[in-house]
Amino acid sequence: MTDTSFSAEVTAKAADSGANASAQFRERMAAAAGRSGVVDTARVDHLASKVIKSINDIVLEEKVSYEEYNALKAWLIKVGEDGEWPLFLDVWLEHSVEEVASEHREGSKGTIEGPYYIPDAPDMGWNGTIPMRDDEPGTPLVFQGQVRAVDGRPLSGAKVELWHADDLGFYSQFAPGLPEWNLRGTWSANDDGRFEINTLRPAPYQIPTEGACGQLIAAAGWHAWRPAHLHFKVSAPGYELITTQLYFPGDPHNDDDIASAVKPELMLDPKENPAGEGFVTDYDFVLDPEK
Ligand code: DHB
Ligand code: FE
Repeated sequence: MTDTSFSAEVTAKAADSGANASAQFRERMAAAAGRSGVVDTARVDHLASKVIKSINDIVLEEKVSYEEYNALKAWLIKVGEDGEWPLFLDVWLEHSVEEVASEHREGSKGTIEGPYYIPDAPDMGWNGTIPMRDDEPGTPLVFQGQVRAVDGRPLSGAKVELWHADDLGFYSQFAPGLPEWNLRGTWSANDDGRFEINTLRPAPYQIPTEGACGQLIAAAGWHAWRPAHLHFKVSAPGYELITTQLYFPGDPHNDDDIASAVKPELMLDPKENPAGEGFVTDYDFVLDPEK
């Protein structure tokens, strides 16, 4: 494979990821219909009026021209056409929504879910190896720890869901050509609330750059990088589910994540694995009781 065809393939896969994120989100919303509430009229009136007013204020303050207004209009149309609203919202807005949603928590920190979660990944017991290809590239990583309640009780049977990108930054079920559950799994904590996951250390990740979001990034002179990360959902009956991500020290983008999702509490401390190749890292998840 030449370098050109390799990068063309990578570009095509990234473009698919955006469109698939829209389709997946629509499916999940349809499945939840009837179970989730509708936002009431007074709240829609309040929030929509506030958003419209803030944008009008910016136009007046910044003396936005017709040229700029039309560029915005064309760009907004393209975000929809490219299926990139999930990307745009999860990168530039979700971090604030998550901050509001988790303000009251005493347990482990959460952060954004992003566009690439799929529920019901295969069951890996308490210490299985994540589903991966025979020749999956990457450095082995043992991720181990305990799930506890804020009062210190181990939560036997707690569910730890993990999903992450492959060595090229692609997520299965969004980028084409990957096995269905590649680098996705669900672990159940043992009697002591412990789990041990064999996976690979993920690579830093660029959000898709060839669509509308990439166009904005280029036009503004920004970069598209997220630091390498592992995504988790951790849950147990009677406790609040935590959606989070964990990061690796020394990543060049820990301080300027395009999605503003890094928090100091979410930094891992990987060590060389004395028992084998690669790294081992410990992290405990602490859950708040449901209110
Ligand atoms: C996006 C991708 C991610 O992997 C993530 O964690 C957050 C956002 C994105 O492309 O929008
Ligand atoms: Fe991600």
